Amino acid sequence: MKNLIVYSSKGGNTKKLAEEMFKQLPEDKDIAPVSKAPAPDNYDVVCVGFWLKGGQPDPAAQEYLKNCTGKIFLFATHGAAPGSNLAKMALNKAGELAAKATVIGSFSCQGEVSEKMMETAANKDPQPPWLADAPAAKGHPNTSDFMELSDALIAAGLKTKAEKSTGSMLS
Ligand SMILES: Cc1cc2nc3c(=O)[nH]c(=O)nc-3n(C[C@H](O)[C@H](O)[C@H](O)COP(=O)(O)O)c2cc1C
Repeated sequence: MKNLIVYSSKGGNTKKLAEEMFKQLPEDKDIAPVSKAPAPDNYDVVCVGFWLKGGQPDPAAQEYLKNCTGKIFLFATHGAAPGSNLAKMALNKAGELAAKATVIGSFSCQGEVSEKMMETAANKDPQPPWLADAPAAKGHPNTSDFMELSDALIAAGLKTKAEKSTGSMLS
């Protein structure tokens, strides 16, 4: 089985999650930013990562998702609380955009929001709904997110429990 990880990341949070995923997945695997993503045809599963912007997958990831066929695993970072409706809605939207693909699993967690961005968002009227959760995103993604990621990858059949210890949180 050969897997590809494609990620879109402006501030580095989603890249960090993608790199952790790369460590956790068994061989055979490739990783690339969305701007340099290879054609998905030669892979069994493509893991597509994005950050939330305006309640949706970021624009670069949206374009990539539209062209996905075959099996995909979605992952994301966001300011909104983990498991919140805002996060769920964005993952659903990603699935809708990837209408030609089959979603085999997903994972999302918070990703640190810069002080500057929080200030900008606080000055908006109305303030974005995720802003209240954003201070709690400090330090994420972290090792506890990486352990949850491991469980999501196992649930999707992308790794086995035996491979769980390959995650960087235990190395
Ligand atoms: C311009 C901008 C818009 C954002 N919009 C949202 C949003 O709609 N919902 C949300 O939960 N987080 C939002 N965030 C927070 C980011 O999604 C979050 O910090 C994410 O981890 C950034 O990922 P990155 O570091 O890979 O770019 C926004 C951040 C920025 C800079």
